[in-house]
Amino acid sequence: MKIGWIGLGHMGIPMAARLKNAGFDIKVWNRTLSKAKESGLPYVEKLEELVKESDVVITMLFGSDSVEEVYKKIVDTGISLKGKMFIDMTTIHPDTAKKTAELMIKNGADFLEAPVLGSVIPATEGKLTIVISGDRETFEKYKNIFEVLGQKLYYMGDYGKASTMKLINNTVLGSFMAILSEATAFGKKAGLDTQTVLEVLSNGAGKSGVLDAKKEKLLKEDYSTHFSVALIHKDICYALDLAKEYSFPAFLTTETLNLLTSAKAYKLDEKDFSALLEVYKKMANIKEES
Ligand SMILES: NC(=O)c1ccc[n+]([C@@H]2O[C@H](COP(=O)([O-])OP(=O)(O)OC[C@H]3O[C@@H](n4cnc5c(N)ncnc54)[C@H](OP(=O)(O)O)[C@@H]3O)[C@@H](O)[C@H]2O)c1
Repeated sequence: MKIGWIGLGHMGIPMAARLKNAGFDIKVWNRTLSKAKESGLPYVEKLEELVKESDVVITMLFGSDSVEEVYKKIVDTGISLKGKMFIDMTTIHPDTAKKTAELMIKNGADFLEAPVLGSVIPATEGKLTIVISGDRETFEKYKNIFEVLGQKLYYMGDYGKASTMKLINNTVLGSFMAILSEATAFGKKAGLDTQTVLEVLSNGAGKSGVLDAKKEKLLKEDYSTHFSVALIHKDICYALDLAKEYSFPAFLTTETLNLLTSAKAYKLDEKDFSALLEVYKKMANIKEES
């Protein structure tokens, strides 16, 4: 089985590397070719080459627009897609997942929607949680790929459900990060020692996987990117679109979006989303740690 991997961002690189290290026959392609060259993974220069050579193509892109664009390009290559398997692991709007599945099936290929939960470190360690939609038998057939990337696999049923689940997860993730940033900044403003604040929170009401993952970043104000503000902003926008569709009152998620929009206004798009702390520091005029 030849695997073609598309998308070498923060997640794509460690995930593709895991498949390579597990012995899969994998080649990668990335829009910005330099990243493919620097990845140390076997790469091709042209998307067409990758599609032609691969039995299974996995995409890990930015969001719905990039998925629609890349899948259209794949179809437009004119290469026969009959019998090929496509797996999209990008976080996308559920409607995009449904449309992409329809497009690929219409072209004789098969498709699984498989967004992931967990960031760069779980991706590197193969400890992601993966939610999967599509045909169950197809999922079972390609389970060996998912097992290299993730520790927990949840089969969700029809197309759209996995992406819906992923977006609901990220409403929690975004709102957790927001309250943890707010609490950290509040402590600074009140003159408390930040290390102590984070320690107490992680043994108190803030105890969570999110705080475990972001404690050091909040302490050191190290916003080097694992999961960017731009990505979570995109996810929260999709989640609120969905909430609107279901007439669901997503109060907290709406506030989280406002905070993320402020982060973008402060040009923090490409920073890790723990940079929400910076938004509070600016808004509360916190110049330095007390
Ligand atoms: N980072 C995380 O912690 C995390 C965790 C769980 C899920 N996710 C989700 O996983 C996906 C990837 O995340 P990431 O952090 O790896 O994102 P990223 O670092 O921003 O990488 C995005 C990738 O998509 C490619 N891309 C974007 N638009 C494209 C287009 N129009 N055509 C072709 N390629 C395009 C980029 O190519 P270039 O190099 O050419 O820009 C890059 O390879 C996102 O949907 C994200 O929401 C991320």
